[in-house]
Amino acid sequence: NGLSARAKAAGKLYFGSATDNPELSDSAYVNILSNSEDFGQITPGNSMKWDSVEPSRDNFNFAGGDVVANLAAQNGQLLRCHTLVWHSQLPSWVSDGNFDNATLISIMENHITQTMTHFKGKCLHWDVVNEALNEDGTYRDSVFYRTIGEAYIPIAFKVAAAADPDAKLYYNDYNIEHAGAKATGAQRIVKLIQSYGGRIDGVGLQGHLIVGSVGSSAALAGNLNDFTSLGVEVAYTELDIRTTTPASSSALQQQATDYASVVSACKTVPECVGITIWDWTDKYSWIPSVFPGEGAALPWDENYQKKPAYNAILNAW
Ligand code: XIL
Repeated sequence: NGLSARAKAAGKLYFGSATDNPELSDSAYVNILSNSEDFGQITPGNSMKWDSVEPSRDNFNFAGGDVVANLAAQNGQLLRCHTLVWHSQLPSWVSDGNFDNATLISIMENHITQTMTHFKGKCLHWDVVNEALNEDGTYRDSVFYRTIGEAYIPIAFKVAAAADPDAKLYYNDYNIEHAGAKATGAQRIVKLIQSYGGRIDGVGLQGHLIVGSVGSSAALAGNLNDFTSLGVEVAYTELDIRTTTPASSSALQQQATDYASVVSACKTVPECVGITIWDWTDKYSWIPSVFPGEGAALPWDENYQKKPAYNAILNAW
């Protein structure tokens, strides 16, 4: 019994959590993370990103990613691999290299091929392209978009499909959990890849949400269906639901309701394969560092005590 056991009983592949290498020296943390009844899947929060994996050109370092991949294997957990092409945590040799179109394409192809080949057979999913969109649904002005144009996206998926035919290939983004311009933009990306004859298997909805602004499970599910109607599966890949800190007990109750709404949405959509929270304890959440004054976003508090959200998730499956 646990969050992932319940997800599986509901026909899903997993409920999981992100983790990050520095936290793995905390044995109390690792004990809870390693319980596959709660976490049937893990995602490395940082150690498979470009700046970790290829800090200088053609110089690959998979040590950090291997630690997380090995932990998943040891614990009998699935692995979501994250992420190959992203404007952020991108080393300056790529972002400021002033490469021409053909050179940047070959750099991107090499990064994808080397990285996916190294982890081949271990990744249930790969987030091939992350956060390519602005809030209005237009393309974000990254070095990839500026140099290559929108074709960088289908090119990345084509190379990824060849490198690991068994990994499901995902486009991943935030603020696409509710219908609107950015969600429509992500649907346009799915169709773009398909129009190039490429394979895209899924869309990852990150799910960095705010207590009280999550909306109904019916609305969330309707948005999921706007993706699945294009022939792709979906997953919530980085779920956390933040509030102002210190959190009041009523905020934590609303948070429980909001977590349950997300779980119900995934439950009712057959093509929603699972949910990953962006770490499980407030102690290691990324939220306070990026959104000052906000936090308390995860189902366990900083002392590893379960918050109301835990039972809400459990019972919503
Ligand atoms: C975050 C990590 O959790 C932090 O440790 C890091 O400092 C910044 O990145 N969207 C994503 C994730 O796709 O990779 C980000 O992870 C959170 C937002």
